[in-house]
Amino acid sequence: MRATRLRTRKREPKMTKDHVVIFDTTLRDGEQSPGATMTHAEKLEIAGLLDDMGVDIIEAGFPIASEGDFNAVSEIAKNAETSVICGLARAQLGDIDRCWEAVKHAKKPRIHTFIGTSPLHRAIPNLTMDEMAERIEQTVTHARNLCEDVQWSPMDATRTEIDYLYRVVEIAIKCGATTINIPDTVGYTAPRESAELIAGLIANVPGADEVTFATHCHNDLGMATANSLAAVEAGARQIECTINGLGERAGNTALEEVVMALKVRNDIMPFSTGIDSTKIMNISRRVAAVSGFPVQFNKAIVGKNAFAHESGIHQDGMLKNAETFEIMRPEDVGIAGTSLPLGKHSGRAALRAKLEELGFEVGDNQLKDIFVRFKDLADRKKEVFDDDLIALVRTQGDPEDERLKIEKLAVRCGTEGPQVADLVMSVDGTSHMTTQTGDGPVDATFNAVKALFPHEARLQLYQVHAVTEGTDAQATVSVRMEEDGRIVTGQSADTDTVVASAKAYVHALNRLLVRREKTGSDKREVSYKDVS
Ligand code: KIV
Ligand code: ZN
Repeated sequence: MRATRLRTRKREPKMTKDHVVIFDTTLRDGEQSPGATMTHAEKLEIAGLLDDMGVDIIEAGFPIASEGDFNAVSEIAKNAETSVICGLARAQLGDIDRCWEAVKHAKKPRIHTFIGTSPLHRAIPNLTMDEMAERIEQTVTHARNLCEDVQWSPMDATRTEIDYLYRVVEIAIKCGATTINIPDTVGYTAPRESAELIAGLIANVPGADEVTFATHCHNDLGMATANSLAAVEAGARQIECTINGLGERAGNTALEEVVMALKVRNDIMPFSTGIDSTKIMNISRRVAAVSGFPVQFNKAIVGKNAFAHESGIHQDGMLKNAETFEIMRPEDVGIAGTSLPLGKHSGRAALRAKLEELGFEVGDNQLKDIFVRFKDLADRKKEVFDDDLIALVRTQGDPEDERLKIEKLAVRCGTEGPQVADLVMSVDGTSHMTTQTGDGPVDATFNAVKALFPHEARLQLYQVHAVTEGTDAQATVSVRMEEDGRIVTGQSADTDTVVASAKAYVHALNRLLVRREKTGSDKREVSYKDVS
């Protein structure tokens, strides 16, 4: 039972020569970064939000990687309203067939096939330049026989010999690729070089004017956004990016950064995108929550501090004229203006109206459940702000999957350790009790959960954030756990940090139990790096 955001607009991408296609790979390159694994339902939800915000192309996954990836891509393809749905495939006929089987359900399907063309990457499958050229010819032709929309990428293009790059791009175009993506796989290039590479391809490769060139940058040197924009200025018309810059190592180009840069500096970069920027903040928060990768406070556009003006001189300037220190308005990226908080006397109608204002569509049963939790929160907290409500809705559990449930928790703390947790927890409907100690209240609580539900899952990440200001603020807690290669995350919110921690831990364990039941289906068998 999860609240979904209202779908507010229908959009047809406008394709002019100044339109930059936004290709989002949060669900493929982003999700493949260690620890960022999302559940099937979460992937569908994120895809829905991407589609709704105007993303032109969603790279939904890597169908050959696992049964879970295949199912997610197929389902996203079936549900997509406007976006093109793309799947990734290595340069192997079987990969491409599997990819097509998943994306073919989409109104607008795309196959994205790739091979590493730099000397280091050619050494992995141990192919000569000629053998690789032949493989490209065979696989792009095969993909194009299945699908009209084919994207081809020479992985590690920025470290590939330029003559060889021109040669293989020409082959891919001749074999029917409609988009040529130029990946800076290891985040090695710099803006001027990124521009020269695209300009060189357009000027030197026969057939270049018949295809769209894309830029795909990684952020290892912190230049992904600058490199992507430089590529666009040189003629690329597709940017590959992820929400919050999620991705392996230092991540990928951040969608919100390139979109807002093109919007705010349209005077010097006169390009349009189809993105509704007011949807940015919502999807950013959602991706952070489901991936378990928090957004750094001072991150451009979506960081907590991106629109905060704390110093006296800044506040004074802001009060006189917001433009003194602001180049864009918070509303432009979907940060709501200050609105009146709800309190313990607010009724169900006021709660429903506020949820609708925040963009949540909730059914009657769901509203009933949220109302009970809202009242409980309002009893403990004088004012319930928009962010509190968002946290409340977002951390709503899935009652049908709750095999473990915290019933009572009391923790005794003091300057002299150890801390002691008394826990009552139900396991499959039967209540159990234990008392455990630990190095701190959270450790004692987690030990108590483990005593009542013994398991070998390893805690990989534990994170706490205050939702609003003040000592009565709600804390949102995220945990990430790993068992036999399966990774799950759990979230919860409460004014008591220890309670929120216990619930987030149990949320993750409940998800692990669901995953155990679906043995193996979500485990990756191959990675896109296994290029043979
Ligand atoms: O970074 C990269 O090279 C990739 C390719 C698979 C496009 O993600
Ligand atoms: Zn990549």
